[in-house]
Amino acid sequence: MSRATISFLRRGKRIDVSDVDPRMTLLEWLRLSERSTGTKEGCAEGDCGACTVVLARERNGRLVYEPVNACILLLGQADGTEVISIEDLETAKGLHPVQEAMVNRHGSQCGYCTPGIVMSLFALSHARPEKLDRDVINDALAGNLCRCTGYKPIVESALDSCSSSLPDHFDAREGATLAELSNFRAGEDVFMGDDSVFFAAPGSEASLAFLLKSHPDATIVAGATDVGLWITKGLQDLKKIIWLGRIRSLATIEESETSLTIGASITHQQALPRLSSLDPDIGELGRRFGSTQVRMSGTVVGNIANGSPIGDWPPLFIALGATLELREGFSSRKLPLEEFFIAYRKQNREPQEYLRRITIQKPGADDHIRVFKVTKRRDEDISAVMGAFKITVKDGLVADARIAFGGMAGIPKRAFNTERAIIGASIKDIATWRAGAEAMERDFEPLSDHRASADYRMRVARNLVIKALAEIAGVPSSTTRIFAHREATHAAE
Ligand SMILES: Cc1cc2nc3c(=O)[nH]c(=O)nc-3n(C[C@H](O)[C@H](O)[C@H](O)COP(=O)(O)OP(=O)(O)OC[C@H]3O[C@@H](n4cnc5c(N)ncnc54)[C@H](O)[C@@H]3O)c2cc1C
Ligand code: FES
Ligand code: FES
Repeated sequence: MSRATISFLRRGKRIDVSDVDPRMTLLEWLRLSERSTGTKEGCAEGDCGACTVVLARERNGRLVYEPVNACILLLGQADGTEVISIEDLETAKGLHPVQEAMVNRHGSQCGYCTPGIVMSLFALSHARPEKLDRDVINDALAGNLCRCTGYKPIVESALDSCSSSLPDHFDAREGATLAELSNFRAGEDVFMGDDSVFFAAPGSEASLAFLLKSHPDATIVAGATDVGLWITKGLQDLKKIIWLGRIRSLATIEESETSLTIGASITHQQALPRLSSLDPDIGELGRRFGSTQVRMSGTVVGNIANGSPIGDWPPLFIALGATLELREGFSSRKLPLEEFFIAYRKQNREPQEYLRRITIQKPGADDHIRVFKVTKRRDEDISAVMGAFKITVKDGLVADARIAFGGMAGIPKRAFNTERAIIGASIKDIATWRAGAEAMERDFEPLSDHRASADYRMRVARNLVIKALAEIAGVPSSTTRIFAHREATHAAE
């Protein structure tokens, strides 16, 4: 079965779009085609949140409301969802509770950021957070910049309006929306365009294999949080786009006692609860990955496929000992993640192959995990240096070590010399920590760029080795962690 349109719901009605450029973003469609100009464009690269809209979609039988950056989301990625923009919140009875609170608290001045902020808060109100506090609200707003108002009144608006007890008109028609969405049949292939220019969303891996065989020059898109920028900032003329979002077999997470397997279209947001449960540092890394909007669209596997030397998941997954599955047609191959990265932006993947899933080994009882992301800003920033450590300690000795870094070379890479320098040594011996730090000089020759100088990177990386080993040896985190220190200070106040 195949359909030649991109189809979604708008205000309860089905919209079928055909004959548009496959690169068209959702923001362009809203503003230029539908003339819904309430949604703004600020940065056009996913950073400012002015373009935030909400996609309502069915997940596990429930309707979920996901905030996304419409500026870098392709229109085709809205297929099978209800698109909700700022114009849809007010009813004949008045403003939405979130809007009402923003008015009452004076949460808007020039107003340019306001539609995006309201949409993020609208999504937060529908997420029904168990505990609504400033940390939860700050996370929800990390991807929304306001230059005028200051966040105090905005956060207060959220405290007033995002509690779980306030149903709205979207809740009232949830059943009808779910029924409408079920009409976008699973398994159906979407192909809009012709053989030279198209947006395709295959409904199965068999259809994906067929498309990739016929069009090895096509661009695979998962969340488009990287590809979207190639279009809006790189002005790349991508003519053939294959989106993975309709393939159910790629949208799975499997968990066993020893491993976690994440499919190619699983978003960061979906994977986070499982990943966070492996270790608190992993949870914090995930929380600091982009913003809520980026985590809602971007995928874990897309972060790997992109092959960036400063991607956050690859060093961690290398340290954990992850295996990638790649598929071409009906044959698959598996390889250790560290072998996937060959050289700067060069990965071990044939044009007709796709990454199917990644399997991560869970840490064992003697394994200690430490993950440090070093950035200029706490939220929504890309790493200057990212260090991930899995250190196995038995009887006070380092029995095994897997250490990987991002930002220190053209690819995410293991620190083999550092590992060798500490294996067999006493974890509590300061000489071990120093030997590990010194070996970093033999593992990496970092570059200078706009994020950090080579000298800074090396110094930070050496210090991270000492910090990781010191913490594992038992040095209290209140002396090594800014946030533990901050919490201790708050408690004392
Ligand atoms: C505002 C902002 C903040 C960000 N913050 C972070 C951050 O904190 N940390 C970080 O690491 N990254 C960050 N990123 C980068 C980006 O979000 C991640 O790399 C993301 O995980 C990419 O996933 P995606 O699904 O959006 O990939 P896409 O953009 O869809 O694809 C990325 C690349 O992978 C290829 N690809 C995707 N899936 C497959 C597959 N299954 N098989 C073969 N090829 C595939 C695509 O062809 C493309 O080359 C940020 C981006 C933005 C815009
Ligand atoms: S316009 Fe800035 S995030 Fe979209
Ligand atoms: S009110 Fe002006 S940018 Fe937020």
